[in-house]
Amino acid sequence: MILDLIKKRKSVRKYSDKHISDKDLKQILEAGRLAPSWMNVQCWKFILIKSQEHKDLLSDLCLGQEHVKKADALIVCVVDKSAWSEAKITEILNPAVNPALQGENGLLIRSMEQLVYPISYMMLTAESLGIGSCIIGAMGNEISGVSESEYYKVKKVLNIGEDQIISTIITLGYPAEKTETIKKRKAFEDIISLEKIGNPF
Ligand SMILES: Cc1cc2nc3c(=O)[nH]c(=O)nc-3n(C[C@H](O)[C@H](O)[C@H](O)COP(=O)(O)O)c2cc1C
Repeated sequence: MILDLIKKRKSVRKYSDKHISDKDLKQILEAGRLAPSWMNVQCWKFILIKSQEHKDLLSDLCLGQEHVKKADALIVCVVDKSAWSEAKITEILNPAVNPALQGENGLLIRSMEQLVYPISYMMLTAESLGIGSCIIGAMGNEISGVSESEYYKVKKVLNIGEDQIISTIITLGYPAEKTETIKKRKAFEDIISLEKIGNPF
């Protein structure tokens, strides 16, 4: 059951030396490819990283996070803002809702939003294969504005275009130790309501 996987998954930041097979990596990436998006715009690209050289470069960009360097593989998740220009949103809905017409901020927010789905699908697929993962959001990019020169260097090395932004990195590797399964989460009644906030379900 998918809920069991969700309950079991925890961020994994320490990895064993065991390599992930290409077959499993392809399955994880395929889960991302099949994720839903607004009007099926699929404003994303995913770059699989296996080389230590690129891992080191990306670890530096992620403020030196060790697990980025030590993961067996990384998936660099890239927002492709140019994908919206092909979207057919204006034919179906009020054109005002088209992210491509909502200014740079609107376009960015709606584009980033789409990436949450493939990232979640890929993490859960990794979990189902016994592979640990961690989402990495702390990095230099157009959004954080930190480490600008490193960021543009990484973009060049990874052949990432002007309209494309690294939003997230997923680290992947077999867990080196037993993962703690206790989830620190807000209580059900603190975040879930019926009909209006504060009314318990
Ligand atoms: C958008 C996003 C960005 C994150 N960025 C980082 C990060 O840069 N480094 C890191 O080690 N963990 C990062 N995490 C992992 C969170 O710390 C982790 O998911 C959270 O503490 C809950 O723990 P769990 O994943 O084990 O359930 C990020 C998670 C999300 C959703």
